Amino acid sequence: MNLIDGKALAERINEQTRVKINRLKERGITPGLAVVLVGDDPASIAYTRTKDRISKNLGFFSRKIDLGKETSQSELLKIVGELNADPAIHGILVQSPPPPHIDEERIVVAIDPAKDVDGFHPMNVGKLAIGDPTALVPCTPLGCQRLLLDSGIETSGAQVVIIGRSMLVGKPLALLLMRKGKGGDATVTVAHSRSRDLANVCRTADILVAAIGKPEFVRGEFVKEGAVVIDVGVNRVEGESSEKGYRITGDVAFEETASKARAITPVPGGVGPMTVAMLMVNTVTACEHQTGVTG
Ligand code: GUN
Repeated sequence: MNLIDGKALAERINEQTRVKINRLKERGITPGLAVVLVGDDPASIAYTRTKDRISKNLGFFSRKIDLGKETSQSELLKIVGELNADPAIHGILVQSPPPPHIDEERIVVAIDPAKDVDGFHPMNVGKLAIGDPTALVPCTPLGCQRLLLDSGIETSGAQVVIIGRSMLVGKPLALLLMRKGKGGDATVTVAHSRSRDLANVCRTADILVAAIGKPEFVRGEFVKEGAVVIDVGVNRVEGESSEKGYRITGDVAFEETASKARAITPVPGGVGPMTVAMLMVNTVTACEHQTGVTG
């Protein structure tokens, strides 16, 4: 079994991003990212801190906007409008999920599609669906695809089973792996909580992607001998003995699955760091498109 080291690959990609940012700066352009957090969800606080820290470290102009959990829909829309109009900002990310009184879809459609570095705007989703290469593609699916490419795992003709149909991961990843060309050309099945006979469906997979948000949901019996397993899950399991009072676990029961898999991503240190690295890549891409200057 090979452990797929997402942390190491993310660091290599970040160093390439740093070089691109330096070249853009030499040409008078500083790529800018705005990371907006609404509320006090502990996981979202941690994620947005990481995104802001890494973007600053790589040389982006980074604005982190923390809004209280009482922030209204119209206040948030106003801030998005200001960021859309701000020429120093090339990428806008509003951390998901927002508090329940916020209609996330309305926020997503308010973001300028050219600055939509999450790739959640219907314009970008549509471009991905029709195979338009100018689509900004969601970061987690992009990270999964890069992990497969970098690990030399052939997707062309492969049976891929994705568990999870979210707009964040499952659906866009299916579109990405179905696309024609490198890192694509796969036969994709999207399974979910209502799928009948899930273990049997999963056992058909050459590449199994778990993005269902349930700790250790995928058991050893779901995995065909020699399959590749990509674990997108980041679940906080409370009350376990650790300093923080919780432990992070993926959607895959690691030990029993790893013993059957050809290759597997760990949690943490697999898909997570790749998501952040791809956000940085998307922000540089968005900046290049908006300015017409290439790094
Ligand atoms: N919440 C969990 N992952 C993501 C992500 O990639 N982008 C945003 N905006 N929110 C998230």
